[in-house]
Formats: sequence, structure tokens, C-alpha cells
Amino acid sequence: MKNIWVIANWKSNETIAEALEWISTVGPKLPKAPSIKVVVCPTFTALEEVKKEVVVNHWPLWVGAQDLSPFGEGPYTGEEPAPILKGLADLAILGHSERRKNFAETDEMVAEKVRRALESRIKPLVCVQDENTPVPVGVDLVAYEPVFAIGTGHPDSAENANQIALNLKKRLGGETEILYGGSVTSENAKPFLQAEGLNGLLVGGDSLNADDFLKIVEMAAVI
Ligand code: PGA
Repeated sequence: MKNIWVIANWKSNETIAEALEWISTVGPKLPKAPSIKVVVCPTFTALEEVKKEVVVNHWPLWVGAQDLSPFGEGPYTGEEPAPILKGLADLAILGHSERRKNFAETDEMVAEKVRRALESRIKPLVCVQDENTPVPVGVDLVAYEPVFAIGTGHPDSAENANQIALNLKKRLGGETEILYGGSVTSENAKPFLQAEGLNGLLVGGDSLNADDFLKIVEMAAVI
């Protein structure tokens, strides 16, 4: 049975109080199926509180960071290095197009972040804009997120996302798991979840609403 990932990318949203309210709604309702991997990626500020709640309640929920430093510990003001995130974040979203655009992140920086994440046993999830974006060695979880679809309300078609996923698997190896992200909602998630080449979804805006996010998770559990 293939894994299906449903990942909430909160971006720069949700206070600690809002984050705790969200997981107190979502946590108890998560399916126990091991092939359904649900991940929440809060801001760095909320990571610790969210992680504590998940551990105390034994919810089947991974906690992820939205980024990490390309450097180690040291004189890098404002950066969050992998050895410090270790234990708080199980996964890190790396190379998101918003970081490439707003923070001039390059493929080389993404590769360095991946290396740091792997060293600290944080699972890297690398975002690609198309089937040609470089993916560093050691990455087995990739999200196809076309820029035209992110936050626009205009998702790619499930057919095209599936084709890109199959092409990526051909290039990177069949064991690489490919997600789709870009304007996914509980209304349009189903065909993406059913696509044979895809292993789930990275959800931005719609993941902020706990009930909408749960609908997507519940859909994934019965596909
Ligand atoms: P969106 O964002 O669902 O709000 O389009 C997805 C993402 O950027 O990961």
C-alpha cells in the first residue's frame, strides 16, 4: 500500500494559541492507518508547543519546519539550524518557491539545507516548480508546486500533476514519493489523491482551517 501524505504548510500564519486550537481539533480525529502520513508545519515560534502536544497525546501527526538554515550552529543571526530543530521538527519543507522568490534562495542553498537536514535526521521535503528542477541526492520526498497554482485559486489539473509526478519518478527513481501542491482545497483534492503517480498533497491556505484540512485527511484515508 502506497503512502499518502497530507501536509499543512501554514506559512507565516497562526499564533501559538491558534496553533494549539488547530491541533486540539485535528489531533484526536486523525486516522491511525500507518500509510496516511499527516504533517503540520507551523511557524518556528509555534513548533515547540505543537510538538509537545503531539507527543503528550500520542497523535499520529508529524511536525515539520518550513525551512532551516544552510549553516550549522554559530554566528548566523536569525537562522534556525538543523541541530537545534532536531527533536522539534521531523521534516522540513525546503526550496519552496516563496523562499526562492522572496529570499533569493538558490538550488545550491537548497542542496546545503538538504545536507544539513539529513545530518540531523530531519526528512527533507523539496519543492520543485517543474520536472526539471534539481533535486539533491538523498531526497525521497518531493512536492511538485507550479508557481502559477500557489495561492491563486487555480490548481494544475490532476492529470498534468500525475504526468509530472511520473516523469519525476523516472528521473529520480521510482521509490521517490511525489506530492502535489498549489490551491488544493477539500473541494478539489480528490482526483489528486486518486492519481496513481502522486503520494499526497501539500496544502497551504486551506490547511489553516482545521475542519477543511480534516476533510482532506479523511478523504485520503478512504482512497
Ligand atoms: P496554497 O499553497 O495551497 O495556498 O496554494 C501551497 C504551498 O505553497 O505549499
